[in-house]
Amino acid sequence: MWDERYGTQDYAYGTEPNDFLKARFRQIPRGRVLSLAEGEGRNAVFLARHGYRVTAVDTSRVGLDKAYRLAEENGVAIECVQADLAEFDPGENEWDGIISIFCPLPSAIRKSLYARLDKALKPGGVFLLEAYTPAQANNDTGGGKDTDTMQTAATLRQELAALRFVHLQELERPVIEGRYHTGRGRAGGGGKVEERWPHGLRHSLIPLQAQAFRSRGCHRRLPDHPRYRPAAPACV
Ligand SMILES: C[S@@+](CC[C@H](N)C(=O)[O-])C[C@H]1O[C@@H](n2cnc3c(N)ncnc32)[C@H](O)[C@@H]1O
Repeated sequence: MWDERYGTQDYAYGTEPNDFLKARFRQIPRGRVLSLAEGEGRNAVFLARHGYRVTAVDTSRVGLDKAYRLAEENGVAIECVQADLAEFDPGENEWDGIISIFCPLPSAIRKSLYARLDKALKPGGVFLLEAYTPAQANNDTGGGKDTDTMQTAATLRQELAALRFVHLQELERPVIEGRYHTGRGRAGGGGKVEERWPHGLRHSLIPLQAQAFRSRGCHRRLPDHPRYRPAAPACV
């Protein structure tokens, strides 16, 4: 399905990065970022343009070939790995950031992958996610109807229990991200701005957004004396 979707000259989700990633990417420490289900490269290329070393994983060869092309056009390098996330090993202490932008995995595969994500991040590494909530299944703005691949704040917190969440929100937002993630388009003409719903799409998107990080842990014990007791927790 994805190879077919990506088998056109244009980019199904556009070439601009996801809005949530764009707003939050600076929280990721400089270094290596793993992008889960990268697709055609818009997010990986954006991060590479901002100095990150990005590894993009996706099952779609066609999508990843376009990701390489987009990177070349932008004068940056990214690494692409064609792999099924059901089998992909994210390693340990590998990544300064892991991003998951609309990565539609069946819950069983997602849980098994998430069980390895906290260790895959370096201590202090940041996880950023935007995903569909089940409420999105009633919309026509992308994400399909399979609620098993969708996520809520509660399931995410449970499945990534080892990470510390600094932002976790289900919301509704307008989205303009290519042909397949567009809730509202604007077409101007003759001084009049007309709202339209491209491709029969008519709603905003109902996503879950999350930012979490792997704790650095406390390895050093301080003497139990007021002088050594920090006002704020020594580590988080
Ligand atoms: C909705 S697209 C999002 C693409 C990209 N993250 C973006 O926001 O532009 C979902 C992507 O998930 C990928 N995908 C779905 N199941 C996958 C799996 N099991 N392993 C790896 N990639 C997968 C598809 O190939 C597709 O590129």
